[in-house]
Amino acid sequence: MNVRSPDMNRRWNRKDLLGLRELSADEINFILETADAFKQVGTREIKKVPALRGKTLVNFFVEPSTRTRTSFELAASRLSADVINISASTSSLTKGETLKDTAKVLEANHADIIVLRHSSAGAPQFLAQRLKSSVINAGDGAHEHPTQGLLDLYTIREKREKIDNLNVVIVGDILFSRVARSNIFGLLKLGARVTLVGPSTLAPREFEKLGVSISHKIDNVLPDADVVNLLRIQHERQRKEYFPSIGEYTQLFGLTKERAKLLKPDCLIMHPGPINRGVEIDSEVADGLQSVILDQVTNGLAVRMAVLYLCGGIATP
Ligand code: CP
Repeated sequence: MNVRSPDMNRRWNRKDLLGLRELSADEINFILETADAFKQVGTREIKKVPALRGKTLVNFFVEPSTRTRTSFELAASRLSADVINISASTSSLTKGETLKDTAKVLEANHADIIVLRHSSAGAPQFLAQRLKSSVINAGDGAHEHPTQGLLDLYTIREKREKIDNLNVVIVGDILFSRVARSNIFGLLKLGARVTLVGPSTLAPREFEKLGVSISHKIDNVLPDADVVNLLRIQHERQRKEYFPSIGEYTQLFGLTKERAKLLKPDCLIMHPGPINRGVEIDSEVADGLQSVILDQVTNGLAVRMAVLYLCGGIATP
């Protein structure tokens, strides 16, 4: 898989992955198809391929992460790339160095791919415009989290064998969620119907402009859902109170055990993690038969291998 075919060059020609908003449906489908091949590689006894041998990936996480950072590290390792992990606290950002200068230092050390998580929306785009290295957005503020969106699409497609015409309900803190935005862009491009649910402060009507429906009553939308994706309340990004109390939020919008009985038996229950058990989702529901939360994590590896493989083959530092 380390030789770029003419079909691959036709279907993918980007050095960076910054968001799903700018991708076409064909580009998204090509990533998902490439991930299929890497998922198959993961079933072999030797799970490593030489696709990025000799390349260096820097995992640059300025915000905390468990899933995304480890998934990118493992994906790069499976592709035989060398990996360096740096965080804000261990970098010279703490000494006043700018993000651009830090990134230029990484590039001068021949970093071929920089995976960036940052609290500021637009930080990956800022670097991508200034570096020859590939820049992969691992979550920027409340803007986008494209590989999370892709692994969610991959999981839905794997479990339901299609995405077109499915009713996908995203519940929670939409306003501050980069996961919601990437899911919305990806799902709509692949033909799903998307309904956002939450208090009017966190699921405001202005999102309708994107082509989604809004509801403030979760019980009205659960019976028709094919997929329910629960989101955490992103307290770290909120600068004021958006609802009266956590207890009231759970009462009105949490996927409790009782409320989950409204779902169709084949409705998928998803969550990008980290989960706040007992707030947006009950423990029994998160661990129940309809939950695909750990499948999402597993699929993240194949999807990130695909993204690194596709973008890493384009960058020419
Ligand atoms: N879903 C997600 O981005 O999780 P982490 O913050 O643990 O990477």
